[in-house]
Amino acid sequence: MSRQRVLTGITTTGAPHLGNYVGAIRPAIAASGAGGVESFFFLADYHALVKCGDPERVRRSTLEIAASWLACGLDPERVFFYRQSDIPEIPELAWILACSAGKGLLNRAHAYKAAVDANEQAGDDPDAGVTMGLFLYPVLMAADILAFNAHRVPVGRDQVQHIEMARDMAARFNHHYGEHFVLPEAQVDAHVATLPGLDGRKMSKSYDNTIPLWLPERELKSAIARIVTDSRAPGEAKQVEGSALFELYQAFASADETAAMREAYADGIGWGEAKQRLFERIDAELRPLRERYYQLVGRPGEIEEILRLGGRRARAVATSLVAEVRIAAGLQPLFGLRWEKERGADDGRREQPRFVTFREGEAFRFKLLDGDGTVVLESVPFADPKACGQSIGTLKKAAVAGQALATRSAPDGFEVLAADGSVIARGADPARLGPVMEALALLAA
Ligand code: TRP
Repeated sequence: MSRQRVLTGITTTGAPHLGNYVGAIRPAIAASGAGGVESFFFLADYHALVKCGDPERVRRSTLEIAASWLACGLDPERVFFYRQSDIPEIPELAWILACSAGKGLLNRAHAYKAAVDANEQAGDDPDAGVTMGLFLYPVLMAADILAFNAHRVPVGRDQVQHIEMARDMAARFNHHYGEHFVLPEAQVDAHVATLPGLDGRKMSKSYDNTIPLWLPERELKSAIARIVTDSRAPGEAKQVEGSALFELYQAFASADETAAMREAYADGIGWGEAKQRLFERIDAELRPLRERYYQLVGRPGEIEEILRLGGRRARAVATSLVAEVRIAAGLQPLFGLRWEKERGADDGRREQPRFVTFREGEAFRFKLLDGDGTVVLESVPFADPKACGQSIGTLKKAAVAGQALATRSAPDGFEVLAADGSVIARGADPARLGPVMEALALLAA
């Protein structure tokens, strides 16, 4: 079986906070080091446009989030790390999926429904202020996932519906056009902590209770000082249940350290002291990462290069899958299409194109003949029949996959190249690649 593909996207609005670090960044990077998985992490900057119309913010956030993941130990050579907008196959696939996704399905998306409900409550037009970007958000997200045929998508609970919609779109496409997509599964890690924020509710930008991940030491300390506690005095036993401070500590501490803190609570540790311990624990983990982070954001050019390189690698994966999907849907060159036959008016003139191999002195060669018996391609001489056969295989494989042949122009026409760049064959009719493509397409059909 091929390796499990795990994929997740990070929207580029804003900067990460401690909750993102504990709930997403840290576990994802740890999991990406495991064997048997291929990890895809990307910056969802097209998604950012749905929520954010401030170009400077989107750009800065792209830098900050990329630098954050790298500072936390993401190895861009071991995983695919890229920017969504560097992969044009993603929006291309989004359109193709939109053509088989039910509008009713999208009507039920939580974010869209919440916007409509709010408008109705306010007595406004139901779609007031709702963009097509918001409405199609789940389709773009499905394309992010399906363009790589990811098996698993680690997300927070709020995103599970989107993954289910992606499954639905994949299944509909497969049902109509044949099996092309893996049906992805959401992965919600129960053992990964959801971190409480300053006020004790879940740490979230929408509650304005976050602790930004890259606060300088002094500011981290004063943020921790603002965590709500009860009013028990030093010396009074404290409860760990419902204590945001304790939960935060636990998210960073070892089992032994956590047990020691539990005891300290029972022994009546003062809140000031407990906060100092929490600060020290978090700072010990973040300090080395913070140093790397500030180095990285200071060198945007280097991050840009890392993203471009990752984009090229990721794109190679998406290109072949999306090419297959285009063909399945009928977006394909016309070579090889025989419309007379479909109408029962086949003129009977043409035979199947074919390859012929022959010897020439010590060498082995092949020719490709079209249905009229005209030679359209002539190979170079090969030293042995196996090399000759392999070159024919290369051409057939490209034809079956619907890929363009690698060619370059030569003084007397064009040359067809193998993957290693060596010349396999030359066009017989100097300027015309069309008859070659036509013959190969008919062979592949
Ligand atoms: N919508 C996700 C979020 O807000 C981000 C995202 C975009 C994503 N595309 C994705 C997550 C694909 C997983 C897979 O968190």
